[in-house]
Amino acid sequence: RIASITARQMLDCGGRPLVEVDVRTDSGHVGRGAAPTGHSVGAHEAFVLRDDDPSRYDGRSVHRAVRNVEEVLAPALVGRDVSDQAALDTVMIELDGTPRKTRLGGNAIYSVSIACLRAAAACAAEPVYRHLAAGPLTTVPVPAFNVVNGGRHGALVQAYNEFLVVPHGAEDIFEAVEIGVRVFEVLGGVLERRFRTRPGVGKSYGFVAPSSSPRVVLDVLRDAADACGVLDKVAFAVDCASSEMYDRPSRTYELDGRRTDAAGMVEYAAALTEEFALLFVEDLLDEDDWDGFALAARELTRTLVLGDDLVVTNSARLRRAIDERAVDGFLLKPNQVGTITQALEAFEEARRAGLVVVPSGRSGGVIDDVVMDLAVGLQVPFLKNGAPRSGERIEKLNFLMRAAHDIEGCRLADVSAIARFPDR
Ligand code: PGA
Ligand code: ZN
Repeated sequence: RIASITARQMLDCGGRPLVEVDVRTDSGHVGRGAAPTGHSVGAHEAFVLRDDDPSRYDGRSVHRAVRNVEEVLAPALVGRDVSDQAALDTVMIELDGTPRKTRLGGNAIYSVSIACLRAAAACAAEPVYRHLAAGPLTTVPVPAFNVVNGGRHGALVQAYNEFLVVPHGAEDIFEAVEIGVRVFEVLGGVLERRFRTRPGVGKSYGFVAPSSSPRVVLDVLRDAADACGVLDKVAFAVDCASSEMYDRPSRTYELDGRRTDAAGMVEYAAALTEEFALLFVEDLLDEDDWDGFALAARELTRTLVLGDDLVVTNSARLRRAIDERAVDGFLLKPNQVGTITQALEAFEEARRAGLVVVPSGRSGGVIDDVVMDLAVGLQVPFLKNGAPRSGERIEKLNFLMRAAHDIEGCRLADVSAIARFPDR
């Protein structure tokens, strides 16, 4: 049973305030939870409640959310069974009563949800990923490394937000991690030689994109992989985060210094999938461009079309995406929907429809992100991580290697059954 719930304002790994929650049980077990946030935050995500007081952390302090945990959520949950996650999450969803958790704050509710999950796992004396597992654990997922970050940097605009390296051909997680780290290191030198300037640090701790052309960036990535002698063991991937570059009135997207429509975006991406082994293309279109996504899913036969801002880990939006055949898979970011129960519902919905589920941390991350427990516990084929440069991102790689030691006979997950790029 839950004995107490306390909350406080702490900082996320980007130095922004977040809500941290401790749930204590009457058996003396403790679970702690906090909500990460993104830079490219989807309009349909659960609401992050901040104080909007310009004199405190530039308006980003979260004291109201902290109060909502202690004064509204805690009294409703204390005394309840901590292992009944669905019931606890339902109480919070009903107390809030809004579709995007705007009243109490998605950050308040999510932090409590995660703290309860951790307390329940602590009571059961098992790691959270075992607590979440539906069956036996045999694999850890392949980590995708977000090594080049796009967006706007001074005069240069790289429309695609992320360029990733996916070491799917590694023997085991240890080799996969080594390949990712090595390619990232070598990439720095390749960038410096080719563009004659030291590459800056991007928003997700990758290198700042050196060119407005996605093709040029992918070509540099391929050079780096080649220089490491691992070209046959890696694939690449992109997150276009196109909502950031969409102009609603004209229904056009920015792409390499020009503007184009959804068909132009799909055509360009299709050409990339002919040139490069692209495991996935994420958010190629705007978060409400359902027709554009359906076109992409139809035309892009050599890669997986993934929805992140389109789906926001929300079962209702996922069902629509399934009905309209808009995606091959989605990004599982549990804080986007705001409770662990709803995130697991979206996972189940996708699994039933045969879609790929890709857990991912957020760019404004937390150390010890529960998304890693989901990734291992749900036995997904691959996940998305940042560049191997900051503590919270390295910790996610260490998590996978630790889990591989813990899981008897652990193998690296096999993505060949779902990959669509041709062997080369
Ligand atoms: P973020 O991650 O939303 O955490 O900034 C980037 C993305 O996957 O769109
Ligand atoms: Zn994304």
